[in-house]
Parts: sequence; C-alpha cells; structure tokens
Amino acid sequence: MAVYLITGIGGFIGSSLARELLQRGEQVRGVDNFSTGKQENLASILGQIDFREADLLDLDAMKSACGGVDYVLHQAAIPSVPKSVLDPIGSNRANVDGTVNVLVAARDAKVKRVVYAASSSAYGDTPTLPKHERMTPDPISPYAVAKLASERYMISFYRCYGLETVSLRYFNIFGPRQDPSSPYSGVLAKFITQMLNGEQPTIFGDGEQSRDFTYIDNAVAANLLACEAPAAQAAGKVFNVATGRRVTLNETFKLLQGLTSYSGPVAYGAERGGDIKHSLADISSAEQHLGYKPKVNFEDGLRRTVDWYRSSRS
Ligand code: UD1
Repeated sequence: MAVYLITGIGGFIGSSLARELLQRGEQVRGVDNFSTGKQENLASILGQIDFREADLLDLDAMKSACGGVDYVLHQAAIPSVPKSVLDPIGSNRANVDGTVNVLVAARDAKVKRVVYAASSSAYGDTPTLPKHERMTPDPISPYAVAKLASERYMISFYRCYGLETVSLRYFNIFGPRQDPSSPYSGVLAKFITQMLNGEQPTIFGDGEQSRDFTYIDNAVAANLLACEAPAAQAAGKVFNVATGRRVTLNETFKLLQGLTSYSGPVAYGAERGGDIKHSLADISSAEQHLGYKPKVNFEDGLRRTVDWYRSSRS
C-alpha cells in the first residue's frame, strides 16, 4: 500500500483520483483550500482520507502534507482561461507559485514521484493537428503560460534535484462532479446542466471550434500509470492525455439535445478572448511509454456525465 498526496482533492479531478485510489486500497491524503474545490465532492470519502484544508502558498503546510508520501498527484489550480485573462496575478500565484511550493516540499520529503496536471493549452493555436509533445509550445492566455511554466519547473526539479516528475497535458477533461456553476466552468458541465434545466446554452463564436474532450476515467488511469511507469520511460517527461479525436461545439450541442431532451436552439455569442480554435492530441507517446489507452470514448463519457447530473438533481 502506497501513500498518495492529492493537491486539489476537493476538485472534480482530485476527488475522482481519490475515489479510485481508495478502491484500490491505497492510502490517500489530500489538501485543498476550496477556492474552486467543493466540500461536497469529499463528503462521502472524508472518513477514509487524511484531509488537510490548506493553501499551496503555505509552504509549511505543504512540507507537513508531503511527510511520508510516496506519490504526489498535483491537481490544484485555478483552471480557467478567462479567469486568468481577468486576473493574471492570481493565476500565476495559484498555478506557478503554488506548484513551486509543492515541488520544494516533495523534494525535501523525498517523495518518489510527482505527477502534474499540465494543460494542452500550452500548445496554443498552432495550425498543426494533432498536437504532439515535440512541438514548440506557444501559449496564449496567462493560464496557459502558467501551466507551461509549472511543467518546466517539473522538468527542472528532475534535472536539478533528481525528483521524478511526470507532466500530463490534459485535453478538456469532463465528467461527473465538474462544477457547472461558475461562469468559468468547463463548457460540457455548463451545457449539460443548462440543458437539463431547460435553459438555453450559449456558444462563444461560431461553434466550429473543436476539442479533444476526454472523459475523467481516462485522466484518472493516466495518473496511476504515470506513477507506475519505469523512471526511464516517464521521469522528467511530458505526455498528452486525451482520446485522439476531436468534436466541434456544434456537434456536441446536437449530441446533448439527444441526451437531455432539450429541443430549443443554442444561442451564439462573441468569441472568448484567449481561446484557441482547435485542439486534438496525438496520444502515441503516452500509449508507448505509459501503456495508456483511452478506456471511455466521448459519446459514452457524455452519456455517463448527463446521467450523473440528471440523478444528482433529483
Ligand atoms: C479547458 C480547461 C482548462 C484546460 C484546457 C485544456 C476548464 C474550465 N478549462 O480549457 O483547465 O487546461 O481545457 O485541457 O475546464 N464555451 C462556450 N460556451 C460556454 C463556455 C465555453 O461556447 O458557456 C467555449 C469556449 O469559448 C471554448 C470552448 O467552449 O471555445 C471550451 O471552453 P472551456 O470548457 O472553458 O475549456 P478550454 O478553454 O478549452
């Protein structure tokens, strides 16, 4: 049995990781400051985890949280492109300064490996698709810059201190428990709850933008594989975590009409600043080095997610 520390354990991805680890019989510790995480995501597992309410910027709390830990799954972030455009200082503090604290604490505690929630936004709006890890990053938003900077810190701590780190560039992870309630929420969480409530969703732009939407179970599996992979294959490296298929927002809206019984039209609004147009991953490196294979495709993931939001309302 290994000890895992999950930063951002109250978030949608962090709490999903915790559930899977507990099912596997592992020991789970978690930190969250509930800036974007939610107490309710932890309610059913609180008795089984060592939870500490703390901010990543509190280095002493991070050092204490890393004591006796084998693996750190660093998920905590302010995960929003538009929020970072409005508040680049806040984004940098949470997404970069916070990461450096986690790394220093993990290094000093001699943690075996840190797996980091990096972002596909690092690629920027490159016309080349699919995006592969050897491409030169070209981040647009402050959020994307912060995520890329943290990724480089991961690599630096491997090179300078020998701390094993793996960065997973997530491509639009979605699924149950993703917060739909903020204007900065992920598009699928927003659209699904709006459409289940009979409210009209709004597409920013013409709806022809596309994403490699990735169901949560795939991201959870990738994190655990990144802990287990031999250091020669994974340490100091960056991997795309996605499905290798992209869908447009217009197509997604149509699929959701079938799944939610919302029959009204969608509204179109102005394009959002800092957005990229298309996102599609080449996942061959994760397949080859981590043994990753997407387990749940987009349609099945969307169905499961709609079912979860529907049942959690009643
Ligand atoms: C998302 C993640 C980010 C992650 C990145 C890459 C969220 C909140 N953001 O960014 O953390 O690093 O993927 O994995 O999960 N849109 C609408 N209507 C809405 C909301 C959004 O049309 O009501 C559009 C946006 O303008 C954008 C697309 O949907 O074109 C996706 O937006 P969003 O879900 O916020 O994700 P990303 O910006 O791609």
